Amino acid sequence: MKNIRRYDDLADADQKHLLHPQTNIADLLAEGPKIMESGQGIRITDVTGKQLIDGLAGLWCVNVGYGREELAEVMKKAAENLSYFHSFSGMANPPEILLAEKLSAMTPGSLNRVFFGCSGSDANDTLLKVVWHYNYIKGRPEKKKIISRWFSYHGTSISTASLTGLPSFHAPYNLPIPEVRHTEMPHYYRNAGAGESEDAFAARMVEALEDLILQEGPETIGAFIAEPVSGAGGVVAPPPGYFEAVQKVLKKHDILMIADEVICGYGRLGATFGSEIFNITPDLMSSAKGLTSGYFPLSAAHLTDEIWEVLKEGSEQTGNFAHGYTYSGHPVGCAVALKNLEIVEREGLVENARIMGGYLHRQLKKAFRDSPHVGEVRGCGLLAGIQLIADREKKAFFDVERKIPMRIQQAAYKRGLLCRNLPSVTTIALAPPLIVSEADIDEIVGLLKDAFDDVLGNLSKNDLIPAG
Ligand SMILES: Cc1ncc(COP(=O)(O)O)c(C=O)c1O
Repeated sequence: MKNIRRYDDLADADQKHLLHPQTNIADLLAEGPKIMESGQGIRITDVTGKQLIDGLAGLWCVNVGYGREELAEVMKKAAENLSYFHSFSGMANPPEILLAEKLSAMTPGSLNRVFFGCSGSDANDTLLKVVWHYNYIKGRPEKKKIISRWFSYHGTSISTASLTGLPSFHAPYNLPIPEVRHTEMPHYYRNAGAGESEDAFAARMVEALEDLILQEGPETIGAFIAEPVSGAGGVVAPPPGYFEAVQKVLKKHDILMIADEVICGYGRLGATFGSEIFNITPDLMSSAKGLTSGYFPLSAAHLTDEIWEVLKEGSEQTGNFAHGYTYSGHPVGCAVALKNLEIVEREGLVENARIMGGYLHRQLKKAFRDSPHVGEVRGCGLLAGIQLIADREKKAFFDVERKIPMRIQQAAYKRGLLCRNLPSVTTIALAPPLIVSEADIDEIVGLLKDAFDDVLGNLSKNDLIPAG
């Protein structure tokens, strides 16, 4: 009873004072917030005492799981030692330098220069400015446009919401900014023509990219940005050969490749970076989330030696790299990242993600094989998407207005499982912490199956009218 009282008091204050990110205000006021109190391993407990398995690792980030004393200790020590210092005007701190060195050794190719920020959005925003700065120094300031993909997710700042290819992120804000263009997302299940092979589909997607480049003029395009596996836009892994062919086109037109590894990086897909799996050689890369497993807000924007050389050569002409944040290279965050990466290595969590990822996909496919309203299970490693479908035979999608994935998310919550509904693509996403075991996955899949059966077994006639 005591806990319930506490929920009511907190919920009351929440509804009076909090503007929640990515939340429908009317729904929040009608339903009340869900207030989390504590976490241990893959489980969290809300303030009413309800226990939940966190099937999405927070927001795809708590890779080492909750409640790691080692990380709390490091955080405490680092804060006691040097609670804060900035990195402007050549300042630095030891954890920041050690982390930059460590990341340079871990990241693909010659990504040996790192800029630290606090979020995935600011990492991508930084990379846009690096592309612009680089081309400015090279005497081609018109080479500014960035090509992103529809249904991608790259953040919510003004520039990164522009990159994000979800129309609801654009409409109220007069976005995208004029420098951003979008091309096709290579989502085979959704966008392939009848009888089109994966190879033919991949070739068509790459052709669409090159057509856009030629239409805009290659001399105006600075970079192309993509997540190795798109997360919030539907958990879409590329068809075989896609990124290899994309990079050939980019090279031909002297366009930089930005890999957004904010979700995929640090083991989620069963490799240290998604770029390794899909043969991406990024010129620039962003990472965040799994860098600290969410224990501290920290992101990294990675640059190749080649790009850094141009910035260095140009520094006499342009002066400062006129970019940076108060909290860039925060000593506490960098110390936490170093310890977090040590845990990932020590416990073999990348390998665990690869093995458990395979198990998760097999179990999901088995559980939903006969469901008339599941179109496909897709993804890679411990990143999975379950596509809901109104009519499997006709491949007719649910109307997003019916909010079927939201209902499943709520039914799962009731049963003690957190998963994520991706409304615009009527998909349910899972991305559990990288520490999961087979028994954990069995439990997750069991709870999710019950939630699916509950919602999909009780659909109304209106629910089944497919999207127009
Ligand atoms: C691929 C990707 N890029 C960028 C971001 C933005 O990160 P943040 O929310 O930390 O700004 C996200 C967030 O989910 C993401 O999934």
